[in-house]
Amino acid sequence: MKVFTTIAELRQQLDSDRNAGKTIGLVPTMGALHNGHLQLVKTSVANNDVTVVSIFVNPTQFNDKNDLRLYPRTLDKDCELLESVGCDYAFAPSVEEIYPTEDTRVFDLGPVAEVMEGKYRPGHFNGVAQIVSKLFDIASPDNAYFGEKDFQQIAVIRAMAAQLGYTFNIVAVPIVREADGLALSSRNTRLTESQRRNAPKIAETLFKSRTFAANHSVKETIDNVVATLNAVPEMRVEYYEIIDGNTLQPIADWNDSDYIVGCITVYNGEVRLIDNIAYRRPQP
Ligand code: PAF
Repeated sequence: MKVFTTIAELRQQLDSDRNAGKTIGLVPTMGALHNGHLQLVKTSVANNDVTVVSIFVNPTQFNDKNDLRLYPRTLDKDCELLESVGCDYAFAPSVEEIYPTEDTRVFDLGPVAEVMEGKYRPGHFNGVAQIVSKLFDIASPDNAYFGEKDFQQIAVIRAMAAQLGYTFNIVAVPIVREADGLALSSRNTRLTESQRRNAPKIAETLFKSRTFAANHSVKETIDNVVATLNAVPEMRVEYYEIIDGNTLQPIADWNDSDYIVGCITVYNGEVRLIDNIAYRRPQP
């Protein structure tokens, strides 16, 4: 696997691959890779001639400086893992390489960016759009891969791609979970032993809420999930919203949509974890 740190060198490599008729898969990451990321990389490797994985802790998407400072950085280990799943190129640029001057672009990401994370992390999605659009321009991929754990992020990236006229495929890859149900996240490494023991309650509560939902209203289901998790030591639900999976707007009634998803953010101690569950998916 080749490791690139400059845009010019990566572009040169990808231009030559493209000229040789090869398809390119891009997997944007912030490093601290786990099996969830590796699933994205494996999907890309299986479906493209070359795969490039970017590893860049993007400062413009952190609205909490402490979260940025504490974000795990494990480049050597990441490269070993990427090599083990057949990744062709890692792109690990410095902040100066990506942002030689301040990125002042403001994206109009529409209603999908205004709810949930958009409300609680102002500026976050604008930062995501800044870095992802730069990566799209650098790599010009045929396919770009994102994890469904960040359900809203995928909708926002699709909105950004539509706005900027990108026509390649944005592929959503299902959540990967630990055996006990906890959704894989780089932030899980920051949990204390007792927080880690309790963390699977998040997925467990979401899964159980599917049964609860069968004879309760949307509001009762939300209240039940929030109360159950708030009763777990050190946990505090920031929001639980049940939304239309396309528009991301909250629904009031189970008959309001044929694509219904519940999205949650929970503080487990200091660590902010997100997860989601589909209550209903559109029939193919
Ligand atoms: O999901 C992430 O890890 C990040 O938001 C992304 C898409 C790599 C942009 O920095």
